[in-house]
Amino acid sequence: MNKKIFAANWKLNKTPDQAAAFAQDFLAKTSEKFFETKEAFIFPQNFSLDKLSQNLKKSPVRFGPQQIHIEVKGAFTGENSLAIAQSIGSTICLIGHSERRQIFSELNSSINKKVLLSQSLDTLPVLCIGESLEQRQKNETLKVCFEQLEAALSAVNLSKRIVVAYEPVWAIGTGQVASLDQVKEVHAELFQKMTSMNFKNFQLIYGGSVKADNAKDLIALDHVDGFLIGGASLEVTSFLDICNFDS
Ligand code: 13P
Repeated sequence: MNKKIFAANWKLNKTPDQAAAFAQDFLAKTSEKFFETKEAFIFPQNFSLDKLSQNLKKSPVRFGPQQIHIEVKGAFTGENSLAIAQSIGSTICLIGHSERRQIFSELNSSINKKVLLSQSLDTLPVLCIGESLEQRQKNETLKVCFEQLEAALSAVNLSKRIVVAYEPVWAIGTGQVASLDQVKEVHAELFQKMTSMNFKNFQLIYGGSVKADNAKDLIALDHVDGFLIGGASLEVTSFLDICNFDS
């Protein structure tokens, strides 16, 4: 059985020192046993990646950038190189978060290039998809999610591991978590879709206002293999309260 995934997206939060303090505290409060059944991922702000790496390098916790450029080097002022992130220990990267799509106009075509790049560098992509409130109200949730999946995963290697995070945009940072029925329906459809696309090694995680008090019920649903967590991942206690849903 797959390990459950607990992924922290710190967005524009935490200085290097705060990231290091989190890492030390998190490792002090987790044991080998924790990592037998669970995976922990952290996506810090870029300036904190190196310091986080220094504190996590010898641990099973995986970390990586929240956003990458489609090229690893060249004249791309202000962009992030996945190869450089990798050189300081990153083994994962977040791709296509809705904030990147909405605020920074990221398109499915460049998201696809990023997934391909991450695969070519043997970095695990965590691909985000999800519908807006307007799209949900128009009953377009599955259509939008499938379109995003198909576009982002065009021509990718079907055997390499990939994590897909379903994050309904209207549930992000709003406190309005999707209902169990909504998550159940979308994850079941995504599972079928990924299977029909012939992916062999994928996990589906949910994101959007995940907290300790809803984590247990959400993770009990079929095809929910973990979470992508924003606000509640900023404190070790609230992050661990979610990770320890089973204790
Ligand atoms: P919240 O958990 O704060 O709703 O954020 C979700 C998210 O965007 C994780 O990527």
